[in-house]
Amino acid sequence: MMKSAGYSFVSSFITVNAITLKQHNRFSLNGFRGNLAKSRKLSAGAQRSQLYTEATMVAGKYYPPWFSVAPMMDWTDHHYRTLARLITKHAWLYTEMLAAETIVYQEDNLDRFLAFSPEQHPIVLQIGGNNLENLAKATKLANAYHYDEINFKSLWMPKSESSWTWLLWCASNAGSKDICSMTLKFVGEAMSVIAANTNVPVTVKCRIGVDNHDSYNELCDFIYKVSSLSPTRHFIIHSRKALLNGVSPRDNRTIPPLKYEYYYALLRDFPDLQFTINGGINSVEGVNAARRAGAHGVMVGRAAYNKVLELRPFCVLNSPWNTLGYVDSAVYGAAYTYITRHQVLEQYEAYADSVLGTYGNGRPNIRDLVKPLLGLFYSEPGNGLWKRKADAAFQSCKTMKSFFKETLVAIPDSVLDAPLAAEAPASGSGDAFANLHDLLPQPYTARDRELQELYA
Ligand SMILES: Cc1cc2nc3c(=O)[nH]c(=O)nc-3n(C[C@H](O)[C@H](O)[C@H](O)COP(=O)(O)O)c2cc1C
Repeated sequence: MMKSAGYSFVSSFITVNAITLKQHNRFSLNGFRGNLAKSRKLSAGAQRSQLYTEATMVAGKYYPPWFSVAPMMDWTDHHYRTLARLITKHAWLYTEMLAAETIVYQEDNLDRFLAFSPEQHPIVLQIGGNNLENLAKATKLANAYHYDEINFKSLWMPKSESSWTWLLWCASNAGSKDICSMTLKFVGEAMSVIAANTNVPVTVKCRIGVDNHDSYNELCDFIYKVSSLSPTRHFIIHSRKALLNGVSPRDNRTIPPLKYEYYYALLRDFPDLQFTINGGINSVEGVNAARRAGAHGVMVGRAAYNKVLELRPFCVLNSPWNTLGYVDSAVYGAAYTYITRHQVLEQYEAYADSVLGTYGNGRPNIRDLVKPLLGLFYSEPGNGLWKRKADAAFQSCKTMKSFFKETLVAIPDSVLDAPLAAEAPASGSGDAFANLHDLLPQPYTARDRELQELYA
């Protein structure tokens, strides 16, 4: 079924030895190192000049991170990112979270964890860890691969997703002033250590609170402290709090209500910082609406991976094809390309067959490589049959070529060869940002003195 394509794409999957030839020093933050406390005292104008300005980004080849695909464990692996990049050239792609310890202990096997094909730029490595020494070493080791940004996620927490969560968990324990202060200091120090060992921007991804520690002021204290202690100038805000007790990570992504008003208040109260909004945005319509309301950047998770069954407050059915397919034209204003699923799959087939079994022990196998494709035909004729055929083909097919031959007969040519519709499907999520400015919390008044006392 699949015709052979021009496979230059595959030959460009290279390892660190080749990648190190490239230099990406576009966002040097050297000017911010040294006395970190001073960094907050720089004029807003001076700081802004170090940020992701459109001019710098475009001159440096990549467009700004107006749209990014969220880090998702077991989902945003190399295979998924390969597929995503075939569909969108401009979206920023985040890796799955990689523990600093993994990088340090696998020093002789780093390509397995860190190598990526150059097409995946702009790409962000998300690192996690609770040991400053390992974070420093891991960052240094990752430098050889030339990620465009390092994003930090702390593992210093009981069962949650962000350093912020742990921080607030500490704060929730009576008499936990010391732990809290230690943790705040740790996140600031972690960011300093990471920044000191790389010359690409460093960013933090966090939630807006945890349990009943969900006031806007507490969130601001965190942002204020981390940006004071480190050169961090860009925060990715997952706009719902985390519930610690008895709520699964999955439910934690749907049950806590979205509070986009906190995000927009951060834009007002920290004009010298950059913020990306994340959580529950499930279409390019929603992305553009968030940006029209002032968001610097928008990060989309589940809707860029699989069909979206339920994302509160909206229940929208969408697919990665519809989400990613419109990013370049509808978000970045690039010329519309008449790309079809057939073309994407031709190139993906070449990639998949070139990496099958290369990690050892038969991995990645066909199932690993098909996983990112499972939402591609969502709600299209033939999707159900295709999935049933796929189940059987996982057992019998040894190559992606044979897998496609076996299964794609289920999908009509009219689906395979249809370009994206001229306009992205409406989702209704644009309304989410319409009246937010009336809901913003009271402005944050930096509590310098109290914070200094608490966290000295
Ligand atoms: C399967 C899965 C794995 C995730 N893994 C991570 C992770 O490794 N690091 C992280 O910061 N967030 C992780 N997240 C959270 C997402 O990055 C994102 O913040 C969350 O899904 C909300 O965005 P969305 O509503 O657009 O999906 C994960 C989410 C999912 C669904």
